[in-house]
Amino acid sequence: MINVGVIGYGYWGPNIVRNLHGGDSTRVEAVCDMNPAALARVRKMYPGVKTCTDPAEILNSPTIDAVAVITPVWTHYELAKKALLNGKHVFVEKPFASNSAQAEELIEMAARRNLTIMVDHTFLFTGAVRKIRELTESGTLGDLYYYDSLRINLGLFQHDVSVIWDLAPHDLAIMDHLIKKVPEAIVATGEKHLNDVEDVAYMTIYFPDNVIAHINVNWLSPVKIRTTLIGGQKKMVVWNDLVADEKIRVYDKGVQIKLGEGINDVLVSYRTGDMWAPQLEQLEALRVEMDYFADCIMTQQAPFNDGHAGLRVVRMLEAAEHSIQKRGELVTL
Ligand SMILES: NC(=O)c1ccc[n+]([C@@H]2O[C@H](COP(=O)([O-])OP(=O)(O)OC[C@H]3O[C@@H](n4cnc5c(N)ncnc54)[C@H](O)[C@@H]3O)[C@@H](O)[C@H]2O)c1
Repeated sequence: MINVGVIGYGYWGPNIVRNLHGGDSTRVEAVCDMNPAALARVRKMYPGVKTCTDPAEILNSPTIDAVAVITPVWTHYELAKKALLNGKHVFVEKPFASNSAQAEELIEMAARRNLTIMVDHTFLFTGAVRKIRELTESGTLGDLYYYDSLRINLGLFQHDVSVIWDLAPHDLAIMDHLIKKVPEAIVATGEKHLNDVEDVAYMTIYFPDNVIAHINVNWLSPVKIRTTLIGGQKKMVVWNDLVADEKIRVYDKGVQIKLGEGINDVLVSYRTGDMWAPQLEQLEALRVEMDYFADCIMTQQAPFNDGHAGLRVVRMLEAAEHSIQKRGELVTL
């Protein structure tokens, strides 16, 4: 049984606590939040769980094995560092840290102490992403051509981070998990309309072998869309995360180019076959992720969403931010 202390019980923290509480191998020992009203909610829901306003009580507790850091990004580094220094395993929200130097330092600290870092890339544990990964790994889609994602909605506005740092970590983590190639360069553009952070942004990521990704994130859209297209040489996937049924549709469509007899004779043929919607696992992603966290600690295996995965995402966010400041200049990675 892994005893966990959770720091941060705002919007996302309750989901983490609920899934840790319901897990077979995890137990929530204490929840910390500097806001007493949040702690009153914890005591009402979980009378047996200790509460505190000072993170030191969790970080110094001899009975806590792991700390979950569910606070805004600018606090991740300090809290995770203190947890690691005190010998605790760390589950930390996305994005892993505010910059890559912080992420690198945390990775090194954890490695030196043989401690686990898991970064909450929640979508990797959804039935949809697990199925798409199965399709890419098995070669069903063929060589990947592109990844194209739209994650737009009205709000939730953040004041400390831009829409890129808030929403794009989801897409970057999914893309990293599926494409499994090292990105070469990023071009990003974005604009600020309401306060001092970008609320609309577009990123293009170049990978080796002509694989390209595009991510559109927006807090100012009147409609909510969460749709991702993944195109391969053999098949193409459309993932609409907002529908209950047929979230994933696999299209047996493709294009073939053949050279004809003449030197300029190019023959384009389109293949249009069936569409099918595979069955997806219905388990709650966070439950699967929390069980995996406990399992990784107990078996001393490195999670696939470890500090290195978190760092890869942070590096892309930094490059995108740099490119936005230069109004879309290509930034090599
Ligand atoms: N994985 C996901 O799908 C997902 C979804 C939403 C948010 N998040 C991430 O979760 C993190 C938190 O986001 P949120 O929307 O819950 O923020 P939030 O502002 O709603 O909640 C943060 C909570 O942390 C508390 N807090 C802040 N600093 C603290 C400190 N030093 N000690 C004790 N308590 C402290 C605040 O009082 C607040 O209650 C962010 O990193 C965000 O990116 C992830």
